[in-house]
Amino acid sequence: MKRVNVIVPAAGEGKRFGSSEKKTFFSIKGIPLIIHTLRRLAADPLVDSILPVVGQEDIKRLNEMIGTYGLEKVKKAISGGVERQDSVYNGLRFFLENMDDPQELIMIHDGARPLIPDGLIAHMVRELLNDPEIDGIIPGIRLTDTIKETDDKGFIKRTLDRESLIAVQTPQLFKLGILEKAYRVAYEKGIYATDDSSLVEQIGGRVKIIDGSVKNLKITKKEDIGLLYLYMEGEIYDQDWDWF
Ligand code: CTP
Ligand code: MG
Repeated sequence: MKRVNVIVPAAGEGKRFGSSEKKTFFSIKGIPLIIHTLRRLAADPLVDSILPVVGQEDIKRLNEMIGTYGLEKVKKAISGGVERQDSVYNGLRFFLENMDDPQELIMIHDGARPLIPDGLIAHMVRELLNDPEIDGIIPGIRLTDTIKETDDKGFIKRTLDRESLIAVQTPQLFKLGILEKAYRVAYEKGIYATDDSSLVEQIGGRVKIIDGSVKNLKITKKEDIGLLYLYMEGEIYDQDWDWF
C-alpha cells in the first residue's frame, strides 16, 4: 500500500495547558509528550516519513531527542508559525519542495495527540485510495452531550441537532495536490481555520469522516494528563463490556 508522510504541528505555546515546561515537551512517564506522539507514528508500517514542526527555539533540543530516542523515520525539525495553520503550511512547503507527484499522501497529526489508535492510519489510507472521488479522510466522534448555542451573555439561543454533529480529530489524510491547492487558496483569501479539512472544504473538496476514538485525546489542559495516564494504562477501555 502507498505510504504516508506526516506533518506534526507542535509549535504552539500551550497557553491553556499553562505549565512552566512547554506542553510539547511536558514529561509523561519521563518522556516528552512530542516523543510519545512521534514514536507512535514511527511504529506504523504505513508511515514513510515524519516532519515535526516546533518553535525556532526548540529545534535544537528536539533534534537531539530524535537522535537519543533513535527515531529514524523522523526528519530534522523545522520551525512553525504564529497560528497552527502557518506551522502546517511550513511543513507542507517542505514536502512540496521535495516531492513532485500530487498523488503523494500527506497526513497531518497534532503533536499534542499521543495516542493514535492502532490500525487507524491503515483504515484511512484504504478509504482514501479506494475512492478517487474522496479528497480527504478524517476521524471524528459523535457527540454524546446535548449542544446549545448561546449568545454572548450566556443565554441559550437554540439547541443544535446532535445527530449531525461530530467532533473531529487528527490525523487527517489528503493527497499532496489537493492540500497544496487548499492552502494556496486559503492564503490568497486570508482564510484561517483550526483544522486542515476546513481548508479542503473551502475549495469544494469532499472529505469523509470515519470513526475516531475518545482515547485519541488532544492534550489541551492539565486535567487531560489524568485521562491520558488512564488511557495509557490497561487497555480495558477497548474491551467489550460483556463480562457479567
Ligand atoms: N500548533 C502549532 N503552531 C501554532 C499553534 C499550534 O504547531 N502556532 C500545534 C500545537 O503545538 C498542537 C496542535 O497545533 O500540537 C494543536 O494546537 P493546540 O492544542 O491549540 O495547542 P497550543 O496552541 O499549543 O495550545 P493553546 O492553544 O492552549 O496555546
Ligand atoms: Mg492553540
